[in-house]
Amino acid sequence: MSGANACLRRDTARLVAGDGGDGGGGGGGGSLESHLARLGPLPDIEPTRLRAEVAAAGLTGRGGGGFPAGRKLDAVAGRGRAVAIANGAEGEPASAKDRFLLTERPHLVLDGLQLAGRAVGATRLYLYAPADVLTGPVAAAIRERRDRLPIRLVVAPGTFVAGEESAVVSAVSGRAAVPFTTPPRVSERGVSGRPTLVQNVETLAHLALIARFGAGWFRQLGTDDEPGTRLITLSGAVTAPGVCEVAGGTSLRDILMCAGGVRGDVRAILVGGYHGGWVWLPDGLSLPLTRAALAPYDAAPGAGVVIALAEGECGLTVGADIATYLAAQSTGQCGPCLNGLPAMAATLRAVAYGPVSPALVRETERLCGLVAGRGACHHPAGTIRVVRSTLRTFATEVDLHLRGTCSAPGRRPATERRWSA
Ligand SMILES: Cc1cc2nc3c(=O)[nH]c(=O)nc-3n(C[C@H](O)[C@H](O)[C@H](O)COP(=O)(O)O)c2cc1C
Ligand code: SF4
Repeated sequence: MSGANACLRRDTARLVAGDGGDGGGGGGGGSLESHLARLGPLPDIEPTRLRAEVAAAGLTGRGGGGFPAGRKLDAVAGRGRAVAIANGAEGEPASAKDRFLLTERPHLVLDGLQLAGRAVGATRLYLYAPADVLTGPVAAAIRERRDRLPIRLVVAPGTFVAGEESAVVSAVSGRAAVPFTTPPRVSERGVSGRPTLVQNVETLAHLALIARFGAGWFRQLGTDDEPGTRLITLSGAVTAPGVCEVAGGTSLRDILMCAGGVRGDVRAILVGGYHGGWVWLPDGLSLPLTRAALAPYDAAPGAGVVIALAEGECGLTVGADIATYLAAQSTGQCGPCLNGLPAMAATLRAVAYGPVSPALVRETERLCGLVAGRGACHHPAGTIRVVRSTLRTFATEVDLHLRGTCSAPGRRPATERRWSA
């Protein structure tokens, strides 16, 4: 999706601020000149202190997993001749924030990569992103800079799994962008057998600001549990789809307002993207976007993807379409993922589109149980999460389908002949 309609709220815009409205941290423009005018040169901060500031800031990864960035830096540092990779693959179809950042604020990401590299003692730096992003403003930004360590560019293919950490290491090593089994962790043995830091581009942009303004500044926005700000990509039934920046713990209601509010009535929100979980409305509107508040929904802020489902749309069909897409994204290396995900997607599809029967609903749940905990990466786990969430959240819709009707106007899913509706 496009990030053109970026919503720049003056009170919370740090990464994407055009005018430094927060009084100190505005990311400041695409060119090196405007970037330097706003933020000055790279701070000369000692690696140990930078790692301590990032840990004290409570910065968590913005690529989906939400892992504490300070702990990750510590895991790579001190092992010698490390490699640092900025992950801008953004394989999630409903996300546009990394593309937005690399296009609108390339120097902030590049600062973050240089600083993170120093913090872990890296001797090689990589930027991994889709080809069209790499040939955009970030290419010009790299040419403008006089960095001590050059940044090598690696093209990320447009697959869902290409941004998974071990797949990133594979791609940067010149192999196919598919995951491999860990341990050993890439922090111990990654590219060329070296300790490797893989960090999302947004995480690195925050790190660049923390290096300049400190942990206390970072924590001035957000909550104790979710400090700082994060980028959100809004799509679906909203007035102005796009990217916005909000403080941690902002309610879903306020997040939707960043996109000009909802279009018509909204039934539910998919939080966390294609590996995420559904939140039912209107109850969910006051939920803050925090791990703790979203846990009962088996959802998490993830990479900051929010998709609004209009009242007239069938959540089962949207969930089944997502499951079908995700099943096709299996890299085919692990049996349960290769065989289990398509089978699971097919049964959910039948529940959504027909012919449906109670046995199919039970079969979808059974297949989720079979695949759970299997596979070399988290792709099966994420797929199960959205499938289970779809069945749970739209249980009333399942009943309607079993009776041959649907809440979406004009749809009548067929029922299995053996099962009399
Ligand atoms: C299937 C799958 C796809 C992923 N895709 C991305 C991606 O496109 N970009 C990204 O930054 N992280 C992605 N991740 C998360 C990475 O594995 C990794 O945790 C992240 O890049 C680390 O950076 P962070 O700690 O700054 O978030 C993905 C994870 C999984 C399981
Ligand atoms: S679990 Fe699936 S996506 Fe992950 S490596 Fe195995 S086959 Fe590939």
